[in-house]
Amino acid sequence: MKSTFVPLLLCAGFQSAFAATADQWRGRSIYQIITDRFAAPNGTDPAACQASERTWCGGSWNTIRENLDYVQNAGFTAIWISPVNQNYHGPTSAYGDAYHGYWIADISQLNDRFGTADDLKALSAEVHRRNMYLMVDVVVNNVMATTTTPDYSNYFFKDASLYHQYCPIDWGNTTSEQNCWLGDTKVPLPDVDTQNPTVVSQYGTWIANLVKEYSIDGLRIDAAKHVNIDFWPSFCKSAGVFCIGEVFGGADIEPIAMYQGPQALDSVLNFPLYTALTSAFSIPGPQNMSALTQTFEDSKTKFKDVGLLGNFLENQDLPRWHNLTVDPQSMYNAMTFTFMSDGIPIVYYGQEQYFSGNADPLNREPLWPSKYAKTDAYNLMATLNKFRNFLVNTTDWVHKEAQILTTSPYGMAIMKGPVISIVTNIGSPPQNGTHIAVSSPYLPSTAMVNILTCAQWAVGAKGMLDAQYTLGGVPNILIPLEMLSGSGMCENELGIIAGNGGKAVALDNSSSVNSAASYILSLLLATFGLNFIIN
Ligand SMILES: *[C@@H]1O[C@H](CO)[C@@H](O)[C@H](O)[C@H]1NC(C)=O
Ligand SMILES: *[C@@H]1O[C@H](CO)[C@@H](O)[C@H](O)[C@H]1NC(C)=O
Ligand SMILES: *[C@@H]1O[C@H](CO)[C@@H](O)[C@H](O)[C@H]1NC(C)=O
Ligand SMILES: *[C@@H]1O[C@H](CO)[C@@H](O)[C@H](O)[C@H]1NC(C)=O
Ligand SMILES: *[C@@H]1O[C@H](CO)[C@@H](O)[C@H](O)[C@H]1NC(C)=O
Ligand SMILES: *[C@@H]1O[C@H](CO)[C@@H](O)[C@H](O)[C@H]1NC(C)=O
Ligand SMILES: *[C@@H]1O[C@H](CO)[C@@H](O)[C@H](O)[C@H]1NC(C)=O
Repeated sequence: MKSTFVPLLLCAGFQSAFAATADQWRGRSIYQIITDRFAAPNGTDPAACQASERTWCGGSWNTIRENLDYVQNAGFTAIWISPVNQNYHGPTSAYGDAYHGYWIADISQLNDRFGTADDLKALSAEVHRRNMYLMVDVVVNNVMATTTTPDYSNYFFKDASLYHQYCPIDWGNTTSEQNCWLGDTKVPLPDVDTQNPTVVSQYGTWIANLVKEYSIDGLRIDAAKHVNIDFWPSFCKSAGVFCIGEVFGGADIEPIAMYQGPQALDSVLNFPLYTALTSAFSIPGPQNMSALTQTFEDSKTKFKDVGLLGNFLENQDLPRWHNLTVDPQSMYNAMTFTFMSDGIPIVYYGQEQYFSGNADPLNREPLWPSKYAKTDAYNLMATLNKFRNFLVNTTDWVHKEAQILTTSPYGMAIMKGPVISIVTNIGSPPQNGTHIAVSSPYLPSTAMVNILTCAQWAVGAKGMLDAQYTLGGVPNILIPLEMLSGSGMCENELGIIAGNGGKAVALDNSSSVNSAASYILSLLLATFGLNFIIN
């Protein structure tokens, strides 16, 4: 039997650049931007922006547009930008100015700090010209004030009856979390009454227009868990695009998973995975790999669709990864997991520059002092994105559910489609003798390539693959050599890939017919759905 590798050319995810559905987002990878901090206007003093000062540093939709090469060259296929609507612009508050965009005043207007309507349209057009998607952050739950008795005439909803009455949140009481006010008495965030039919209707009209006017492809929804869940289906239907919500949380999956599905949102940010990744990979840290394997398995049964979850290591509310752990291998392994497992990878700007601010406001550093260097982390992201985009563009990889192949106290191997990723938390120092023996479904002698190094690996007896750490705790990503054909990856190192006609030795039984072969093929087909190995 000769097996042939046939790219399916599933390019649907890249065809429509407007109003993208959840399924179109599935294969994307997202770069998260705080508009004020991504790129400085011309002539800015690079030392002038201090995150600790909590004020505007001058980034805009135009400066994002002019610096998209940096994002696209790293292989990202979408950007998520901070909220675009008008913010509080009174005297500096107890917590600084509204440079982050989350302090909403009037959603019927754009935030003129970041540009004009034409500027936002130009950004949207440029993103689409690059075949990328535009995700915009929206704040629906609340507005911002500097007193608990604000004058509502400056807001979109001008009547106090359209807000819940002031009460501080009693954490753990769901009703209170939804109806009371976020913030504190210095900077209260008045809670819009999203149960009020007038509010529901006006929000629906507003979001439909915003999405249409600026050709937005998806929404990231701030504080989604502070809104009654039944508000979301009609809101997102009006938007007509993918909705991913921030349901802030930790290891506990259920309270977050309840916000994904037809009764709520298309998807949520994957806080349980984030929590597990920090448990497993932080150095120092609990180094708890079982927390990761457990979260990984539980997520499959508790979330509606793990393939749509937003996987991240950092965001504007969390400590930078590099603040938790300075060893770069910690981040590289965790990052490999977020890209090669189920879900949509999201990278917060500056992660690739090893920024290390620990919390708001220090984790909102200006990007420009980095000079947009092509660091090792940047290059790793570019490789991960290039590989993932190749799999997304040419196969059904993104619809395959990842499976755990092997666990160890200091690492694990997962397989998604034909790709095996082996991660470890041992960190940079070489450890001779430490290894992870991975039991794979591939036939002995199958030629594999590690796409991170272009080194070739041969599958051993009984399908074993052995990850050695004599060069330190690096991640490994393996795919059968033939399947890399057409990817443009590792071509110099492995000249054999170019023009070999795509012969799939992996499942060619002509030389070593054994009873395991058909079993392994059917296992692959059944378990991993390798439906591009045909004939
Ligand atoms: C091996 O391939 C031949 C055809 O080339 C086929 O008849 C046979 O069933 C295959 N054996 C296994 C174990 O798959
Ligand atoms: C910055 O300067 C360049 C080159 O002069 C110009 O093309 C660009 O429009 C300027 N950008 C902004 C945001 O003013
Ligand atoms: C939960 O919060 C709501 C709103 O503040 C309040 O009416 C209710 O009494 C609280 N429930 C409990 C059990 O404390
Ligand atoms: C590791 O995480 C698991 C799952 O969350 C937990 O049950 C276990 O107690 C943790 N082990 C340690 C040593 O912290
Ligand atoms: C983490 O952040 C804190 C506060 O900014 C800082 O003091 C500390 O040095 C940071 N740690 C690292 C490793 O960067
Ligand atoms: C995937 O397809 C998109 C859109 O056609 C293209 O821009 C991108 O370069 C492709 N990526 C790979 C790795 O083939
Ligand atoms: C570990 O193994 C590497 C490669 O085999 C070798 O170069 C190195 O000397 C070894 N280091 C130690 C401490 O044994």
